[in-house]
Order: sequence, then structure tokens, then C-alpha cells
Amino acid sequence: MNIVNRGVRQLADASRKLTLDQSALNDRYPATSSEDSALSLPRISEYWPTSVHEELARQHWSKATITPHIDLNAWQGFLDNLPRDPYVNTRWKRMSWLHLNDQMEVETLGECPMAQGGRFNDAASMADRLRYYDPLEAAFTERDDVRAFVKAWADMWGIGPREPILMQITGVRGDGTIDPLQGQGIHADGCKYLSILVLNRENVSGAINTLYRDKAGSELLATTELAPGEVLHIHDDQLFHSVSSITQDNAGQHFERFIIIINCSFIDEFQNRMLRRHFPGAVLNDCE
Ligand SMILES: [Fe+2]
Repeated sequence: MNIVNRGVRQLADASRKLTLDQSALNDRYPATSSEDSALSLPRISEYWPTSVHEELARQHWSKATITPHIDLNAWQGFLDNLPRDPYVNTRWKRMSWLHLNDQMEVETLGECPMAQGGRFNDAASMADRLRYYDPLEAAFTERDDVRAFVKAWADMWGIGPREPILMQITGVRGDGTIDPLQGQGIHADGCKYLSILVLNRENVSGAINTLYRDKAGSELLATTELAPGEVLHIHDDQLFHSVSSITQDNAGQHFERFIIIINCSFIDEFQNRMLRRHFPGAVLNDCE
């Protein structure tokens, strides 16, 4: 599909979101029960303000907060047991593949490695190789507010049943004085739909997210600092992004910054080959 057609499809998707009948949405995505929690989960159609859909259609990115819809403290509790990223020593990470089943309920899929081709990862240690990580903890993925977030996220982009969704918890922490994350350069992640949600920032300055029209960075579109509970949605096949280095507010004291990355509809053929091999029934972007 060429870029013009993709743009038309995205605008059509966006306008469909704006005009879908509310009762049809509520039938398709019944409200999640939250009997055990004081948290009041919104209906899926009310999860994102209308401005999010409008901004995505107009500018291919939007920033929102989900603080009212999640127990952020509880989510932060899952940072304690994160293993180190075996490929990047200064990072910690888990990831799982999820999808919506035919009843539009969130399910966890089995293992499939991350596979980013060189076009989407400039780091020699990670491009064109398979990367395996420990899965997200079931106690996390089975939470009502996590499932509600994933459902609302998929609905926002128009993601249908059996499309693999990659959800990662990743970040950096340390006690030294040296920045462990020297920025990642300007890049795209190799998919159509990408969101970055900040879970915590402790003793951290910097980590500013910047969006660009082109990989060379000649046209800067926006820069923003995400607070815990804030999420940045990006049409990853339309824009490029970067995050700046971290500096510590108090040198020598513990710092950490963790995020959730969630993305779907891969345009990276290397990743799609792995998805097809591990999940033969999956609906992939290149099946269109
Ligand atoms: Fe990225």
C-alpha cells in the first residue's frame, strides 16, 4: 500500500471512529467489570477524549493522560521484578504479545521474538537479530485496568481480532552519575500504531520526546515531556521520534524512568515473518 493510500485509510479509520454509533460501540466492547477495585473503569468509547481521534487524523500524533483510568501505583509495583534486558545491559524489560479474540477480549499469546530489521533499529547490537524477553507477569496482564487500557487502545486505532499487539515494560535505573541512555537517535519502530506511556520518573530530568516529519530530523513537529500516566500516540509509519538523554536531578542518587510501549500492525517484514511463524492464525498488516 503506498503512502497516499495509507493516509486515506487512516483518515477513513479516524472518521469512522468519530461517527460510530455509541450503542454499537458499547455492544462491541462491554464495560469491564472492576468489582475488586475502587477504580471506576470508563466505557471503551469514553476512554479517550474526542480530541485524541481528531489530533491523530490531523497530525498523526496525540498526547493524553490515562491516570483516571488506571491504578498507577499498582502498575508501578510491577517494576520491582523486572529482569535486565539481556541485549542492553543498562535497561530492564519484559514483553508479551497480546491480541483481541473474536469476542474482542484481551488474550496473551505465546512467545515470539522481537525482530527489527536494520531499517528500524540503528543499534548494531539489536538490528536484524531475534531478541527474546521474559513475558509480562500474568498478575499484570490480567488486571482489569490493564485489559481495559489494551481494549481501548486497540479500539482507538481500529485494531481487529487476532492482530498481534506487542506490549513492553522497559526502562532504565541506576545509582551512578553516568547517563545510561545516551538517546536513541531519530527512528521509527516499524509499525503503524505506537504508543509510549510513562510509568515513573524518579530523580530524572530530560527524556524529552520529540517528533519529526523525516528521519534526518530536518522538520521538527513537536517536543513533549511525558509525566507518569501520560501517553503519546503516534502513527509510527507517518512520523519519526526520538527521546533525549536522561540527567539526574541529584547526582549520585538513585534514578529511574520506566515506560510501557505498545504497538501493532507491523510494516517491518522481518517482524511479520516471525509473527507468521509463531502465530499462524494471526492477522498481519501485510495480509491486507
Ligand atoms: Fe521508538
